[in-house]
Amino acid sequence: MDPTNIVLLDYIVCILLLDIYCDRNNCLDLYKIYVPLRVTPTPKVNWSLYQEAAILAYKNTWLSLALQYMVFQRLIVMRGGDIRMKKWTFGETSIDILWFVLKIPCIVWLTDIVFYVGHRAFHLNPWLYRNCHKIHHRWVETYGCVATAAHPLEQWFVNLHTVQLPTLLMNVPFHVHTAFICYASFYTVCDHSGYWWIGRITQSGITHDFHHHFQNVEFGINSWCDRLFRTRMQDKYPSHWQDFKQHIDPPKKIN
Ligand SMILES: *[C@@H]1O[C@H](CO)[C@@H](O)[C@H](O)[C@H]1NC(C)=O
Repeated sequence: MDPTNIVLLDYIVCILLLDIYCDRNNCLDLYKIYVPLRVTPTPKVNWSLYQEAAILAYKNTWLSLALQYMVFQRLIVMRGGDIRMKKWTFGETSIDILWFVLKIPCIVWLTDIVFYVGHRAFHLNPWLYRNCHKIHHRWVETYGCVATAAHPLEQWFVNLHTVQLPTLLMNVPFHVHTAFICYASFYTVCDHSGYWWIGRITQSGITHDFHHHFQNVEFGINSWCDRLFRTRMQDKYPSHWQDFKQHIDPPKKIN
C-alpha cells in the first residue's frame, strides 16, 4: 500500500479514537463546533451514520490507489518525474532550489483553485449534485472519515485532482509530491473532524464545517477563491458570522 493512503487511514483512526472517547464520556458536544445555527448538540456519536461514511471511505481508498498507479504516476513519469525516488534532490544549482521554493506558494494557491472549481461545479450542476455530491452532504455533522466519503466520480475529479494536480503541474520531485499528499490528507481529515481545536489547526476545519451546514458557503480550502467569488460565511450570512465570532474565543455553548 502506498504511504499517502496509510497516512490518510492513520489520521482517520486517530479521530475515530477521539470520537470513541468522547462518545463513552458523553462529551462530544463540548468539543464539537456548535455555532452558528446548530441543532441541539448531541453528546453521542451517530454510529450508523459513521459506519456508512467508513464504508465509503474504505471503497474510495482502493479507488485512489488504483488511480494513483494507473493514472497519476503515469502522468508524473510523462512529465519527467522520478517515481522511484532515486534522486533526493531539489535541483542541481541554487537557481533550481530558488525555483523550487517559489513553486510552494503556487502549489498552495493551485490547490485552492482546483478544489474550489471542482467542488463548486458539483454544487452548481444539478445532475452532479443530485447523483454524486449529495452523498457527501449526507453528513451535516461531520467525522474524520467523512473526508473521503463521496461518490467515486467526485473522489476522482474533485478530491484526487485537488491533491495530485498542483504538484504535478508544478513538476516537483516525487518525494515532495508524496509528502504534499500526506499533508493534504491530514488537512482534509482535520477539516471533517468537526472538533473545535482540530478545526482551528487548519482554519478550514471551521469553514468546511460551515459548508456542511449551509452548503452555499465556503467551497474552497483557504478562503482565497471564496473571498474572490464572495462565497465566504461573512459574505452570505453576516449575522451568523457575528454569532460565530462572539463564541470563537473561548468557545462557549449557546443556549
Ligand atoms: C442517525 O442518523 C440517521 C440518519 O440521519 C437517523 O435516521 C438516526 O435516527 C440517527 N440515530 C441516532 C441514534 O441519532
